[in-house]
Amino acid sequence: MAKEIKLEPSRTLMEFRLLPGLTTGEHNPKDISLRTPLVYSADNNKKYYLNIPLVSAAMQSVSGAQMGIELARLGGAAFIFCSQTPAQQAEMISKIKHHKAGFVIPQTVHPDMLIEEMYKLRKKTGYSTFPVVDNQNVFMGLISKWDYDISLHSQATVGQRMIPKQLVEVGYNITNLKEANNILLESHKSVLPILDDQGKLISIVFRKDITDQLENPLEVHDEKKRLLAVAAINTHDYEQRVPALVAAEADVIAIDSSDGHTEYQKTTLQWMHQNYPQIPVIAGNIITRAGFRFLVEAGAAAVKVGMGGGSICITQEQKGTGRGLATSIVEVVKERAAYYQETGKYIPVIADGGVTSTKDITIALALGADYVMMGRYFARMEESPTEKIVVNNRVMKPYWGEGSARAQAWKAKRYNQGKFVEGVEGLVEYSGHLRDNLDETLMKIKSAMGTCGAKNLEEFHQNARLELVSALSIREGRVHDIYQGSERTEYDEFSNNET
Ligand code: IMP
Repeated sequence: MAKEIKLEPSRTLMEFRLLPGLTTGEHNPKDISLRTPLVYSADNNKKYYLNIPLVSAAMQSVSGAQMGIELARLGGAAFIFCSQTPAQQAEMISKIKHHKAGFVIPQTVHPDMLIEEMYKLRKKTGYSTFPVVDNQNVFMGLISKWDYDISLHSQATVGQRMIPKQLVEVGYNITNLKEANNILLESHKSVLPILDDQGKLISIVFRKDITDQLENPLEVHDEKKRLLAVAAINTHDYEQRVPALVAAEADVIAIDSSDGHTEYQKTTLQWMHQNYPQIPVIAGNIITRAGFRFLVEAGAAAVKVGMGGGSICITQEQKGTGRGLATSIVEVVKERAAYYQETGKYIPVIADGGVTSTKDITIALALGADYVMMGRYFARMEESPTEKIVVNNRVMKPYWGEGSARAQAWKAKRYNQGKFVEGVEGLVEYSGHLRDNLDETLMKIKSAMGTCGAKNLEEFHQNARLELVSALSIREGRVHDIYQGSERTEYDEFSNNET
């Protein structure tokens, strides 16, 4: 006889609807905040946060450096996948951290360097402006692409072609971006090197980055105002991988596994705490109260919830393990509340796998998730790492599971030593730039929160009232009984409305 047999079925997100609460003038979407804690931190979860409750899945076909940069600029985070070598993953993290967010720690050149060599560096890094410093890092001048012609000056030195310090506008010990911006505006310059009292170079500020930042008010940063970067790890090679990720300055580590209720995760968490106590670790996935307790007691600073629901996932079919995501969230959130009562520690909960529409996101948040992880949603964007292809006149992008045969080349051990696959490979409809898609998604989430009388996610958790719906009422809630020019009348939000 089994230890436990639950005869009530577990529930999916699509089986719930929200009931309205009182909406007032305070619930205008422009005044609704989507800020949410990324991980537990002792300062009331203020140190690590997201400005939108969405993160992209740690998958080869979803979260590379470009997704990491763009999503952080828009207020979320990409979990950079670990099914690649530690060096490749560290390079992606490094790209995000150096992307620039105001004060940049620049690549410098020496005055004796030949223009020819510097030109190679320009091609390699993509940077067109370099500060020139001596062996003691004292600022000597600036050189940009306008200061030389490679066909004429290849054998000249940087020192001969640079704009010398006395002609460059510099700032001393400036840490405030607005102040730097004012100096740039007044001086009509586009670059401002920041020096210390000894004239040594600290950082550099580019006018275009400031403009960029003003256009992205939700951007998420570390304490040095650089974009936040999250790196996934596995429970096999963390002793080699984590040092490379930390050297690349990853802010948060996430243990990526389809089943987190394991001794392996506990050992990995303990190792992280011994070796990198300053770095918060997200663990998972779990779907039970016991799983939550196990991971937080081992030191997890947030937990990822969900098993078997992902759009590319065949775990339930292959093994029979899994649970509806709504029930998983409800159970874990109950245990989170109990843990909070006992310890005063609020552990963020991430809903992951099978979130296929904005209403799913909204329901997951209402049920108590602090943010939602998605693969398919983000795989469709320009910023995902895959190439677009045209199939039957439709622009598509490939999307494959981390447990699929394609990804398993990198992680033979992850899904049961690679003896069978737990994911498939397919195509998703290309849907343009992340920014444009997010605008609409976030507007809908805010609108739902306003309908429920919530100004922020904390109030949404407290005030939301949800109801299970029948299959017939789901049908009633769709377009029905009208002719729309084709047989199908279902509205499929994330398939360009074409199914
Ligand atoms: P989606 O948003 O429905 O596409 O689901 C994405 C989630 O599916 C990821 O965040 C993982 O938790 C999970 N996942 C990724 N790859 C696989 C796989 O190959 N098998 C099962 N689940 C997977």
